[in-house]
Amino acid sequence: MKTQGKGYLDMALITLREALDHARRGGFGIGAFNVTDAGQTEAVLAAARETQSPVIVQTIAGASAFLSDEVYWDVLHTIIGHYPDVPVVLHLDHGPTVETCKRAIRAGFSSVMIDGSIDHATKKVNSFDENVAVTKEVVDFAHARGVSVEGELGTIGGSEDGSVHAQIVLADPDQAAEFVERTGVDALAVAIGTSHGAYKFSAPPDSSVLHMDLITEIAGRIPNTHLVMHGSSSLPADLRRVINEHGGALPESWGVPEDEKARSTKLGVTKINQGMDSHMAFAAALRTSLTEDRVTVDPAPAIYAGGRAMQQMIAGRMAVFGQAGQAAGWTPSEFVPAREV
Ligand code: 13P
Repeated sequence: MKTQGKGYLDMALITLREALDHARRGGFGIGAFNVTDAGQTEAVLAAARETQSPVIVQTIAGASAFLSDEVYWDVLHTIIGHYPDVPVVLHLDHGPTVETCKRAIRAGFSSVMIDGSIDHATKKVNSFDENVAVTKEVVDFAHARGVSVEGELGTIGGSEDGSVHAQIVLADPDQAAEFVERTGVDALAVAIGTSHGAYKFSAPPDSSVLHMDLITEIAGRIPNTHLVMHGSSSLPADLRRVINEHGGALPESWGVPEDEKARSTKLGVTKINQGMDSHMAFAAALRTSLTEDRVTVDPAPAIYAGGRAMQQMIAGRMAVFGQAGQAAGWTPSEFVPAREV
C-alpha cells in the first residue's frame, strides 16, 4: 500500500470493476451505501471492518452536510485512509454531467456513475443516443485513468439528489446489449421497477411491480458487465415508527424486501444501492437521542448514536447481500488515483 501525495494514510482503494468481478466469482452482492457526512462514512467503514466485507462508499455531488464537494471528498479520502484493511470503492453516485464525473475522477474517486438517462438541467428524458454519447465520453476519460464507470439505462423513479422522476421506464434487454457495446461501461444500472427515496410502493411489491425476470434476461445479454440495483431500500416499518414517534411524519410505504435483494444477487446483480435505509436507521437513533436527552446541547452524542445505528443496520445488510467475510484472504490490486488537484 502506498502513501498518497496529499499525506493520506495507506489506503485500500480499489476499482468498482475489481470489486464486482470478485463478487461475481463468489456469487454475492456488494452494498453501495450512500453517505452524506463524515460520521456516516465511518459507520459504513466500521461495518465493513466488523464483518470483513469489501464495500462501496458512494456519494452524490452537492448532497452532503459540507459546504463544498471538494472539502467533503477530501474528508472521505482521509477517513478511508484510516481503514487500510477494508477494500473500498469510492464511487460517485448519479453523476449528472460529464464535467461532474471528471471533477470526481480528478479528486481521486475510483469509480463514477454517469446518469445519462435524463438531462438533469431540464429533467427531460434523454434519447438512447444522447445517453450513449455522454456515457461514452465519461468512459473514455475514466478508463484512461483506471477508473470504473457505471451507466444507467431506463429511468429509475423516485427522488435522486432531490430531483423527482415520477415515471419509471423499464430497461430494454436489446438496448442494454447495444448500450454496453457502444459505451464500454463496467456496470449498468437497470430500471426494473424500483424507485429511489423514502416513498416507493403503496403495498408490498409483487412481480407486477418488481421485474426480477428482467435481471436474468439482461444479465444473459451482457455477461461481462455488472448489473446494479438502484432504489433497493426496504423502508423498515419499525424504523419509520420510531421516527414518527419522535416527531417525524413519514407516510406508510413499502420498499424492496430483503429476500428479493438476496435473490437478485443470484440472478446477476452484483451492486446493490442503499441510501434510505441507512438514513432511516441514523435518523431514528438521532431523533430518539435528541428527544430523550433534553438538556445536552452538544449534538455529538446524538450524531454518534445515529452512526452506531447506521453501522449496525449496514452490518446486517452485508450479511444479507453475502459480502460479509469476503474481504478475508482477498488481496485486490490497489487503485492509485491520478490526482489532479
Ligand atoms: P434508496 O433510495 O432505495 O436507498 O436507493 C439508493 C440509490 O439507489 C442511490 O443511487
